[in-house]
Amino acid sequence: METLSIGVLASGRGSNFQSIIDSIDSGYLKANIVLLITDNPNAYAIERARKHGIETLILIPKHYASRNEYYKNIVHELKIREVGLVVLAGFMRVVGKPLVDAFRYRIMNIHPALLPSFPGLHGQGQAADYGVKISGCTVHFVDEGVDTGPIIIQAAVPAFFEDTEDVLSARILTMEHRIFPEAIRLFAENRLEVFGRKVKIHGHSPVDSSLISPQIPR
Ligand code: GRF
Repeated sequence: METLSIGVLASGRGSNFQSIIDSIDSGYLKANIVLLITDNPNAYAIERARKHGIETLILIPKHYASRNEYYKNIVHELKIREVGLVVLAGFMRVVGKPLVDAFRYRIMNIHPALLPSFPGLHGQGQAADYGVKISGCTVHFVDEGVDTGPIIIQAAVPAFFEDTEDVLSARILTMEHRIFPEAIRLFAENRLEVFGRKVKIHGHSPVDSSLISPQIPR
C-alpha cells in the first residue's frame, strides 16, 4: 500500500499535531506529514514542524481577495504535494467550500466534545457550564457545517462539578491525543467507509480501551 501523505492545518499550540508526529515516529502510524499550513504566524505548531523538518506555509486569509480564493490556494498547495488526507489539528476556522469539495471525506477534524453536543468554540467550557457528567472528544470527517460531518471515533471522560473549562480541557486533551492518531491510522489502512451520516470501521481497532468507541470490534 502506498504511504499516506498528510497535510495538517493548525492555528495554535499544535499538541494534536505533535501527537500525530509522535505516532509516526513510533511506527504506530504509517504516513508522512508533507505540509503544515497555518493561518497564524505565531502558532507554536510552526516550531514543532521546524523541529521535525516539516515544510510550513503561513497563509494569512486577509492576503487573499476572498475566502474562496484563500481555500482555493490551500487546495492548490495540498494537491501539488499529492496530499491524501487533510488533518485539522486546532485550525480555528470554518473550512471553505473549495477545500471541502476537493477533499470530500478526506478531511478530518478533532472536536473537544461529544458531538453533536457542544459544537463550535469552547466545547469544553460549554460542557462544563451545562453540567454534563460525561464529556469527551470526537474525530469526524469535515463537511460544509460546523462540526457536523460523519463521526469516526469518540472517546469519553468524566466531568466533575468542580471542573473549570481548563481542567476539563486537559482531561479531554489526553484522549484527543489517543483517538486522532487512531482515526488517521484507520484511514491510512483504508478501513473507513462512509454511509451517509455514518462511518463504518472495518476490522479490529488497534486501541484497547473501553472508553473509546465501544462499538468497534476488538
Ligand atoms: C483542541 O482542543 C482541539 O480539540 C480543538 O482545538 C484544540 C487544539 O489544540 N479543535 P492543539 O493546538 O492541538 O494543542
